[in-house]
Formats: sequence, C-alpha cells, structure tokens
Amino acid sequence: MSELALFGGETTRTAAYPVWPIHDERDVAAVAEVVRSGNWGGFPYPGPQTQRFLDSFIELQRGQYAVAVMNGTITMEVALRAAGVGWGDEVIVPAYTFQATASAPMMAGAIPVLVDIDPDTFCIDPVAIEAAISERTRAIIPVHAGSQMADMDAIMAIAARHELIVIEDAAHAHGAVWNGQGAGTLGHFGSFSMQSTKIMTAGEGGVLLCRSEEDAWRAASIIDCGRPHDPAGKLYTQGGNYRMTELQAALLNVALERFPAQAQMREEMANYMDEALSEVEGLRVLPRDPRHEKRALYRYTFAIDPDEFGATNIVLERALNAEGIPCSRGYDPMYRYDLFRPQHSRLAVPSAFPQYFDFSDMHLPVTERISGQEGFWLDEEIFRAGKEGVDDVIAALTKAQSALRRDPSLADRIRAL
Ligand SMILES: Cc1ncc(COP(=O)(O)O)c(C=O)c1O
Repeated sequence: MSELALFGGETTRTAAYPVWPIHDERDVAAVAEVVRSGNWGGFPYPGPQTQRFLDSFIELQRGQYAVAVMNGTITMEVALRAAGVGWGDEVIVPAYTFQATASAPMMAGAIPVLVDIDPDTFCIDPVAIEAAISERTRAIIPVHAGSQMADMDAIMAIAARHELIVIEDAAHAHGAVWNGQGAGTLGHFGSFSMQSTKIMTAGEGGVLLCRSEEDAWRAASIIDCGRPHDPAGKLYTQGGNYRMTELQAALLNVALERFPAQAQMREEMANYMDEALSEVEGLRVLPRDPRHEKRALYRYTFAIDPDEFGATNIVLERALNAEGIPCSRGYDPMYRYDLFRPQHSRLAVPSAFPQYFDFSDMHLPVTERISGQEGFWLDEEIFRAGKEGVDDVIAALTKAQSALRRDPSLADRIRAL
C-alpha cells in the first residue's frame, strides 16, 4: 500500500476538482444587460432583476414572501427585528454553526443562547432547545447544516407551545425539501446566503423568506432605509441600506436556471456516496430521515468512529487534504470559535449581559464529540467530478485507513504536524 501523500507519497486525486462558482456567457450577458440599463443598484427596491429573482426563488422554495438583501447574516438580524425580537431577549442557536447564526441576534440586541446538537444530523437538538427555554426566550434559529435539516416538526411544536419565533438558517439549504415544504418555509422566517461558496451564489447576497405578508413588509422596510413597503405606505421602521443590487440579482437569475440540473446531479452523487461510504469500516453514514425528501448538499456530512477507523476527524482532514480531497472537520464549538469572541468586543450585548458570555464552564458533549472527533464534511465540488470524484474520496479514505492500521503511531504524527 502506498505512502500517505502527507509524507511524500503520490496523491490519490491527481486532477483538481472543478472550481466554483461556474459561469458561462449567460452570466456575462446578464451582467452586461444590467450595466447597459444604468439601473445597477437596489434602489428603488426591488428593481426588475431583483423582483424576477425573488419570484423564482419563492417558487423554488415553495415559499410565500421574500426580501432580497446583501447577505445571509443580515437576513437573520432583519428577521428578528421584523418579529420584534431585540434588547435582552434570548435567542436559542446551535453551538455547532458559523458565527453568523449567533452574531445576528447580537446585532439585533438579543442574546444568543448556545445549545447542543443531534449526532445524527449535526443540527440543533430539539431536546436541548426545550431545556434552554427561559422567560426571556423569544426565538430559535435552527441551522440546516451541510446536507442535513434540523427536525422542523419537533422545533415548530416547541415554538408553538412556548410562543417562539423560528428563523431557519438555511444558508446551506437551497432546494432542500422537508415533508413537501421547502427549507426556509417551515419556520416564520427562512434565511438564505448567496455568498461565494454557497450552492446558489452571486458572490454575496441573501434572501429572507417570510411566512406573513406583514413580516415581509416590515423586513423590506428595515432593509430599505425604513421606507414603507406596505400597500398603504404607512409602515415606517428604523432601517438601513441592506438592499441586494441588480447586478447580484442578474447573476442569481442565471444561477437559478442552472440550479435544478445541479441539484439533481448532487442528489445522485450523494446517493452513490452514501452507498460507497457505508462499505468503509469505521465510518457512519448519517441516517436518512424520510421527512427530509430532498437534500441540498452544500457539503456532505458523515461521521467517523475514531476507535474503529484508527483516527479522529482532525487527523483525517489533514491526510485527505494532502491526498487532494477538499474536506474539513466542520465547525469548532461556537463557544471556542476564534470568529466568535463577543466578550472581546465593545458590542453592547456582551457588555450589558456578561453572565451569558463566560464560556469557561460550557461543555456541550455532542457538539464537542462531533467537532473534535467524529464530524466530517466533504466539499460540494467532489460531486461535480461525477462518480470518479466520489471514487477518489473512497480511495483516499481507505488508503488513510490502511496506513493508520499498519502504523497506529501515524495518527499522533499527523496530529502533531
Ligand atoms: C450556517 C451559516 N449561516 C449564515 C451564514 C452567513 O451567510 P453570509 O456569508 O451570506 O452572511 C453562513 C455562511 O456564510 C453559514 O454557513
């Protein structure tokens, strides 16, 4: 068996995986059309490209109302503000996510309360949500992480019982479907990111889906400098300029044309990946919840059994990256995350409520296990290389596994690199 690429052996994957975002003359023409029109910005909101995009996005996600904004962080802040969640309110978020899920509540003046995740989805655990509810709790932000969805039935039942607002962080979940409903339409709000790495992108961008028309008017006003967006023209808010530009919307309109074929291809390749991974000892393919009808597959997540496989996710991430496989071990626990250090900032919320931001005693067992040992994320471009792209992942995994079995001390050497 050959030596690991990390120690000078041949890489398993010799060709680069396809780059993202992909583009062709349609993108160039769409942007050129906007440039020539002279209507580049987002004002008056929404412009014609933006309106067309919103209509199509609503159709794709089976939603009702949508607001187009600059990114998928401000979406969540706007949703909270539109729902009247603000100063001193608690918002429950998973500890295993990108910092935006927790920083958005803080920008709205609210306190993020970090809770544990479910090991079968890497998404927020409904039992942990219920345990964290206090008199101050006003909202929950479940994240549909990687290729999974949070248990929206359980979360909406909890929200109904406690009269809480639910904002789905669907930054990874374009096109995902749960029990006949699109991701982002099950909660009161759905937040999408169109940032460069996302499976529908304009470089930057975001969409907020709203279940109620009034919430949508309020959100549109907040992102459009406070101007009214209700038919009577009376609903003013305290707003800012968070509008999407027409250039972004033009790119997204082309992205939407490509999306159905891409989603289908990703699903086929993910099914192939499920089968192939289940043959590798020491790996756990995450169970398919029948309610989760369509996966979005921004990243493909699975779990390692470190004892059986012979290594933890950190070791495997290093070994596989060297083999030419784009992958990562996912998120650090939010309370240890370099990007989330609110107590080191001059933000009002941590200063006013310091008791919430001392994480020295915080230990969420599943988050720590998935983050530090078991969780593994494969990048989406693997699927765009077809079956051969998936086969290379399996070959790299088995190569790493047999090297580790031959010489168990390798794991320590890799960890020390
Ligand atoms: C789970 C999650 N939520 C929110 C965001 C924020 O989106 P944006 O970068 O568009 O602000 C991201 C990633 O960028 C994300 O991965």
